[in-house]
Amino acid sequence: MAKDYLKWFTHDRFGMFIHWGLYAVPGRHEWLKNHEKLNDEQYQRFFDAFNPDMFDPKVWARAAAAAGMKYFVVTTKHHEGFCMFDSHYTDFKITNTAYGKDAIREIVDAFRAENLKVGFYHSLIDWHHPDYIIDNVNYPSGLGKTEEELAEMNKGRDQKKYIRYLHDSVRQLLTEYGKIDIIWFDFSFPKPKYATGKGREDWDSENLVKMIRTLQPGIIINNRLDLPGSGDVLTPEQVIPEEKVTECRGATADAWEGCQTFSGPWGYGRDFNNWKSAKQCIDLLINHVCRDGNLLMNVGPTGRGYIEERAMERLGDFAKWMKFHSSSIYGCGMAPEEFPEPRDCRYTYNKETNELFLHVMNWPCFTIRLKNMAGKLKFAKLMLDGSEITFTEDEEKNIVSLRVPIAKPDTEVPVIQLFLK
Ligand code: GLC
Repeated sequence: MAKDYLKWFTHDRFGMFIHWGLYAVPGRHEWLKNHEKLNDEQYQRFFDAFNPDMFDPKVWARAAAAAGMKYFVVTTKHHEGFCMFDSHYTDFKITNTAYGKDAIREIVDAFRAENLKVGFYHSLIDWHHPDYIIDNVNYPSGLGKTEEELAEMNKGRDQKKYIRYLHDSVRQLLTEYGKIDIIWFDFSFPKPKYATGKGREDWDSENLVKMIRTLQPGIIINNRLDLPGSGDVLTPEQVIPEEKVTECRGATADAWEGCQTFSGPWGYGRDFNNWKSAKQCIDLLINHVCRDGNLLMNVGPTGRGYIEERAMERLGDFAKWMKFHSSSIYGCGMAPEEFPEPRDCRYTYNKETNELFLHVMNWPCFTIRLKNMAGKLKFAKLMLDGSEITFTEDEEKNIVSLRVPIAKPDTEVPVIQLFLK
């Protein structure tokens, strides 16, 4: 049954993911504490150096809004354990750095002013809290250790206390920042697949969800709590699903949202140069919406607090395309099965208006053939300039042939809007 509080989410389709934390300072990867097996003392230098003097979330929010993004999800705490908000429950927080202010509050205010809905990413994993049980799956100092060695290292640690910390933190985030639209947990790696893994019992997911639903009744929860039935949204990452996603990380749900980066990591990655092109980024958005999904496109702001030029450029590419084509995205989803995708094309469909949008991913020379379309098409136009696309019909073969200009219209992915009878 469709959930009412998901309506805006499946309508809006496009959001911004923001991974920002101490890892922005080294700029190597948000997992560097794990990758480089750093201990707390070694990691401390990033805390000491953290002072984003060029942080202006209004610039971020404007760029997101211009790109057509309607919501955002920001890291309140990543696996490193550092809190980007003024936590009541730890000293390992942004207000204790040279920067001194609650970045989450500033970000929330700036994005709300641009009418974006608010989402919090909160890491279940915590490589800093003194009570969090060390495992050998991803905990930096636990990697390569035997279960006996781990038992020794875990003496004095108490996951129950960590659970209390986790729940207290979430309660604070859901009471002190107004209406929160999404809470995005990351992530479970349960037993028995992982011998020293963590799942619903290690987070007390059941009571966590109960608390969340009481504090923020309309909130959307993702699927990573290892608690079947608790997730509203499935969250595949860095893939382009062939079909609508209905199962992910052992959970099922009606909605799905793919998250993607512009280049490799989620946090700022100075030396990662394999950036997706403008075309690939627009393709991503279309490839999610045409399978009933949302796209959560990530930025990793720098240690100085700005979004680097490479990312700003891509956001600008989204803005350019969305300016002419947003109605093929908002309110749209998978097309009815009776209309198979023509070669190199993707359909999206707006149920309310009965409009079909043909995204031409690879521009052809003369014609595009639409199967099962004879007698059904009233009018067709190129979205970019509203110009008519003429067509002929072959009733016997049940095919409509669109006559398209030979030169590709000047936009990354041209879209032809099809008005059905
Ligand atoms: C992974 C990574 C993490 C990132 C997340 C985004 O689970 O652990 O670094 O935040 O994906 O989906």
